[in-house]
Amino acid sequence: MSEDQDFSQFVIRIKRKTDIDLSQYKEAQMKRRLTTLRMKHGFSTFDQYYQAIEQNRALLNEFLDRMTINVSEFWRNPVRWDVLRNRFLPEMLVTTPKLKVWSAACSTGEEPYTIAMILSELGALGRSSLLATDLDNNVLQKAQEGSYLERSLRDVPMDYRNKYFSPSEGAFLVSDVLKKSINFKQQNLLHDTFDSGYDLIVCRNVMIYFTEEAKSQLYHKFSAALKPGGLLFVGSTEQIFSPSQFGFETADTFFYRRL
Ligand SMILES: C[S@@+](CC[C@H](N)C(=O)[O-])C[C@H]1O[C@@H](n2cnc3c(N)ncnc32)[C@H](O)[C@@H]1O
Repeated sequence: MSEDQDFSQFVIRIKRKTDIDLSQYKEAQMKRRLTTLRMKHGFSTFDQYYQAIEQNRALLNEFLDRMTINVSEFWRNPVRWDVLRNRFLPEMLVTTPKLKVWSAACSTGEEPYTIAMILSELGALGRSSLLATDLDNNVLQKAQEGSYLERSLRDVPMDYRNKYFSPSEGAFLVSDVLKKSINFKQQNLLHDTFDSGYDLIVCRNVMIYFTEEAKSQLYHKFSAALKPGGLLFVGSTEQIFSPSQFGFETADTFFYRRL
């Protein structure tokens, strides 16, 4: 079997086993990451690696962990969050009695907690519903625990830090008010159907890993999930070219408004 066939077969088997479709992720990047992992365990082919994954839950978990790339931060790219905090959310709150917000691919929770803090400061947490989803159950569990090391709070403004976190045994715990405001749920963006009527969808630093085709399908799904006038907030390397083909206009850098 050629190297390409070996990898293609691995992709098919993983899809069957986990419902994760690796073919919708950029191939060169994904292959490089998984080859490093496979070689670390001394398997010379993906066929051997898959047989081992079948028999060893720890290997499967490690594979899932590696393919998902879970890095996150509070206030990632702070200037963009200032635009949301100072311009878009206040505008929405004037016209919308109850905000419907979704943090898609939320990883370990820094992003939805950032949103919840901002909504709380704007006095709007009580009139917002906040959904946070990710493919990976392990990160969702960490998000729900809400315990973070000090270094990940680096960009949290000091007044927010004092108000929404409490130190505990070398870590910082998110306040119960924030925790209770978020509904965490497992979901695959490339596979599952979405709810609709959102005022704001935040989906950052995951679409860079997807193929152009997968991205394009996802933009259509996000567009359909937003209310007219609703906003999609993307990561700082993820601008959408020709947003109008998905029913969006550019509202600001990395913000797209559903027409
Ligand atoms: C780099 S993190 C981004 C976290 C956060 N949005 C941020 O910008 O800091 C990417 C997240 O996307 C999730 N992910 C990858 N593929 C996904 C998929 N098909 N559906 C949902 N989440 C996915 C991963 O599990 C990971 O937690």
